[in-house]
Amino acid sequence: MGSNTALWNPFANMATLAGHAVTIVGGEGSHVADDEGRRYLDALASLWYCNVGHGRAELAEAAAVQMRQLAAYQTFEYYSNPPAAELAGRVAELAPMDGAKVFLTPGGGSDAVDTAAKLARSYWRACGQPARQVCLARSHAYHGMNAYGTSLGGIPANTEPFAPLVGQVEHVAWDDAEALDKAIDQAGAERVAAFFCEPVIGAGGVYPPPPGYLARAREICRARDVLFIADEVITGFGRTGRWLASERFELVPDLITTAKGLSSGYAPIGAVIVAERVAEPFWRPGSAEVFRHGYTYSGHPTACAVACANLDILEREQLIPRVAALEPVLAAALAPLADHRLVAEVRAGTGLLAAVEIDEEARAADPGLGPRLVAAIRERGVITRLLRGAALQISPPFVITEAEIARIAEVFAAAFDAIR
Ligand SMILES: Cc1ncc(COP(=O)(O)O)c(C=O)c1O
Repeated sequence: MGSNTALWNPFANMATLAGHAVTIVGGEGSHVADDEGRRYLDALASLWYCNVGHGRAELAEAAAVQMRQLAAYQTFEYYSNPPAAELAGRVAELAPMDGAKVFLTPGGGSDAVDTAAKLARSYWRACGQPARQVCLARSHAYHGMNAYGTSLGGIPANTEPFAPLVGQVEHVAWDDAEALDKAIDQAGAERVAAFFCEPVIGAGGVYPPPPGYLARAREICRARDVLFIADEVITGFGRTGRWLASERFELVPDLITTAKGLSSGYAPIGAVIVAERVAEPFWRPGSAEVFRHGYTYSGHPTACAVACANLDILEREQLIPRVAALEPVLAAALAPLADHRLVAEVRAGTGLLAAVEIDEEARAADPGLGPRLVAAIRERGVITRLLRGAALQISPPFVITEAEIARIAEVFAAAFDAIR
């Protein structure tokens, strides 16, 4: 084993994959390239995050300028820095809640989710209702891989190996608002802190919300005084054709978790957007309440400067209206795949987010089918991956062209036709 096999990849069977990594060395727009000079159309935008596309020198420059000035400084207690203050203000402005506050997280979405869960419980404690500790989440949910996020997840393969998990977490069916109502009843509303909900389920397989689901779930949470936490780690910053999916679905959450598209991945960073009501016990003049939580790199100046520059690009290049315009183009390009005998369903129609579900019987008869399809698609120059072992992900950078979208659909069709 040489030094090139010391890297332990996430979610990988290293027994078979060690030494077989595709080594990505560069990227430009919607494409990346490997160390053997092969170019790939990145249908994933890496892991749903490279919204402005690869190879943006402007973001490298923003990082360099900030690093020369002040690369890093903590924001615990007394300290702030201009990029962190600017970013928090800009993110608060984008939120559908008035008077929002923003808690910055360093590692991405998992930190944002664990922050939101702890903040929800701290809020109820500060309000004199410390028994409100139960967090509810949905089947198919993905909320990251920290302790709370793993526990809130609704993909059994990710949660079962780690059971027992964080306590006082319950799950409900992803598509049934009345099941949420019942679960709150069963737990006792006076014990429920929050409901976690991806407006469009991402890693669980790209499931847009059933019509009326989000409005009804929001109404139930409001009636039971349960905090509604929208996990917008994937959907935030443009993926559904609006700044936030909450805006698209006319949802006003109590908390919103974000990461990925906040910086398009050029620096790891996330943000929890907090409604005034939830912030109030901690910000009220004279309050002694402290949210005893934070990370060494919360409000990291370089990461924040990069995120601000990323928001500048999204605004200046009008990339979010571009997503809205490309939404029907992507859906129309993928639609014919639904007729293939190996395809169970094509889910598209919410921005640049789609999945092609592989037929269940075919997968059961041949468990290697999904991985072989991913490989066959990559051999034809397009990068995708399997979600929940069942569906192929499509979430390209916002700079993707109509011709490139057509190419993704063509390559998928060719790979499905060729697969044995
Ligand atoms: C909805 C959602 N929440 C949380 C996370 C975790 O984010 P990260 O992997 O950046 O920690 C993800 C990652 O895909 C996600 O899709």
